[in-house]
Amino acid sequence: MLVNASEFLKKAYEGKYAVGQFNINNLEWTKAILEVAEEKKSAVILGVSEGAMKYMGGFDVVVGMVRGLDKDLKITVPVALHLDHGTYQGAKDAIEAGFTSIMFDGSSLPIEENIEKTKEIVALAHSKGISVEAEVGGIGGEEDGVVGEGELADPKEAKQVVDLSVDFLAAGIGNIHGVYPENWKGLNFDRLSQIREAIGDVPMVLHGGTGIPEEQIKKAIERGVSKININTECQIVFTSATREYFENGKDKEKKGFDPRKVLKPGYEAIKDKVREKIDFFGSENSAN
Ligand code: 13P
Repeated sequence: MLVNASEFLKKAYEGKYAVGQFNINNLEWTKAILEVAEEKKSAVILGVSEGAMKYMGGFDVVVGMVRGLDKDLKITVPVALHLDHGTYQGAKDAIEAGFTSIMFDGSSLPIEENIEKTKEIVALAHSKGISVEAEVGGIGGEEDGVVGEGELADPKEAKQVVDLSVDFLAAGIGNIHGVYPENWKGLNFDRLSQIREAIGDVPMVLHGGTGIPEEQIKKAIERGVSKININTECQIVFTSATREYFENGKDKEKKGFDPRKVLKPGYEAIKDKVREKIDFFGSENSAN
């Protein structure tokens, strides 16, 4: 059932658990995530970056595929189709195309411009019942061999942004996308507490969920992180399961060249990963 993410994330915040955002890349990915969410009776968020959207063909392809799967697989749990790190134009296009939730990421803009554009996107999205995630402080990551540490969000700026009626907030607390470097300092819980104090009861989002040690994830959930984004981890398990298929010569056995057979181990690996995350985040049975 496609819905915005606002209600189920409020419920997660109150119940002190988190709902996973799993980024999608294709049909197999999407089907795997939806099937596990239904099996676990958990709400789920399908994250779509603009890069993934272009890869799949465009916003209309993504909306059509997700709506079709939701209907044909008879999904009853709440599912949000969410734009991940949307640009200003991307957010508008996703709203137009029928996404149920969007992130406008103005974190690289000067704060005044981030506020101005977030405000505009919130008004547009809310007029259509679509939830909005905004971001303050940068989420670092490795790009072209340069490792960014991840900027710490300013609690005052976090408060200015949530005051625009955003539904949930991504704030940099030392988290980064992709695999964490060995010398990573860990999440900054002091900063998380300061932000929490400044923003009141607005659910927070933890980006860069791949590779954060479990005890840090637990602590973050206890402090009001209600949405955790996972992308790289699903990519890694998908690719290693696929590699194993070829290494074991399965493609050369009978009709092992059939793409539906080739993609099956990766699809199963994503299902296992999503099951593990839903169990750990505590969202199982949250849709009941
Ligand atoms: P990872 O790729 O590190 O799991 O991060 C995902 C994410 O935050 C998407 O916005």
